[in-house]
Amino acid sequence: MNHTFASALAGLLIAGSASAASIDLSKLPPPSSQQGVTYAKDIRPLFQASCIRCHGGERAKAGLHLDTLEGVLNGSKDGKVVVVGNSVKSPLVLAISRLDPKTAMPPKPRPPKGPNPFNSAQMPPDGNTNAAASGSPRRMPPPPKPLTPEQVGLVSAWIDQGAN
Ligand code: HEC
Repeated sequence: MNHTFASALAGLLIAGSASAASIDLSKLPPPSSQQGVTYAKDIRPLFQASCIRCHGGERAKAGLHLDTLEGVLNGSKDGKVVVVGNSVKSPLVLAISRLDPKTAMPPKPRPPKGPNPFNSAQMPPDGNTNAAASGSPRRMPPPPKPLTPEQVGLVSAWIDQGAN
């Protein structure tokens, strides 16, 4: 095998195997300049709105509990998701920045299979037209909202300040 080809191949293999390294970290939203960021005051409300539905209670996805500070710091069944003092190295920040579609959180809702679940057969039987009019049938919660770049920056600032 010719040497140039071999090293090009090696380069390809490395690039292909290290998916985390292929994320352009310069695209991460800058940490917020807000001081004194705390879990209880600033972060939990964000997680409450977008994450705790899946990462709370006994059946928390990946064993990751985002509903308490302790749970966040304990991480998932696969390990820590927050590196205290280093937001850029924290898997949680990479997940919420959604730079890598494979690890993006919250995950994209799967397209419904089969008949459209929003069809009239699924409407509340009691003639409640409010839910229908507002476009939100009661049984289907709206998909969880991704965090905004500002919110991601606030989470980064919280981690960089010591994740208190
Ligand atoms: C719709 C359900 C759902 C929502 C909402 C959701 N997650 Fe997840 N999350 C999952 C699932 C499922 C996994 C496991 C993914 C896997 O193993 O492939 C996961 C995995 C993770 C992981 C990786 C854990 C590890 O170590 O492997 C992190 C970090 C994470 N979520 C953070 C969040 C954050 C932060 C939010 C809110 C912004 C959020 N998730 C919202 C379902 C959800």
